Amino acid sequence: MAGTLEGKVAFITGAARGQGRSHAARLAEEGADIIAVDICRQIDTVAYPMATPDDLAQTAQDVEELDRRIHVAQADVRDRAALQAAFDAGVAELGAVDIVLANAGIAPMTLPGAENDPQAWFDVVEVNLTGVYHTVEVAKESLLGHGRGGAIVLTSSTAGLAGIGGESPGGLGYTTVAGGGRDRRP
Ligand SMILES: NC(=O)c1ccc[n+]([C@@H]2O[C@H](COP(=O)([O-])OP(=O)(O)OC[C@H]3O[C@@H](n4cnc5c(N)ncnc54)[C@H](O)[C@@H]3O)[C@@H](O)[C@H]2O)c1
Repeated sequence: MAGTLEGKVAFITGAARGQGRSHAARLAEEGADIIAVDICRQIDTVAYPMATPDDLAQTAQDVEELDRRIHVAQADVRDRAALQAAFDAGVAELGAVDIVLANAGIAPMTLPGAENDPQAWFDVVEVNLTGVYHTVEVAKESLLGHGRGGAIVLTSSTAGLAGIGGESPGGLGYTTVAGGGRDRRP
């Protein structure tokens, strides 16, 4: 039986692992081809290891095993020109996009010894907010151009609903970008 996304193309940021890889595999299962972008390197204020080129290669393998095509690129969503180039190369190979999934994000709350580093605020705002803006901007012409409609999905966090990001600069930035949050303290 044909999947619900047969013939569609999905653009996914942060696709090397985690939810991004899972989205790539699930959409491919439904028949979509995938343009997969990830930074594949560390951002200094992030305490946990970020994705690697091997992770992105694993995403490619997972999609290809489902008999779908995938275009992978290492690009930073903060870098509009690099993201546009990655996107355009993907569209040249796979065709115009139907689905845009802005999933790339960081949570730079807890770097030991640097919990009060204001750089974490700037990094999380640049990745989780400006990066999402860039993702939609580089893709919107392609998505709107074919006139078939489509979907733009922006991943956020319940931190934006509940204000649970903590009080570090990165935590405040994370919560602010996710939607502001609501202070639940009594
Ligand atoms: N896991 C959770 O509990 C949770 C909760 C709420 C929200 N989220 C959000 O869901 C999304 C996915 O989270 P995840 O748990 O899969 O995290 P993850 O760290 O496993 O995956 C995020 C991916 O984004 C990539 N990335 C980060 N910065 C990038 C940049 N500047 N340019 C391109 N790629 C970049 C990373 O390399 C990584 O592969 C994120 O936006 C995250 O903030 C996750």
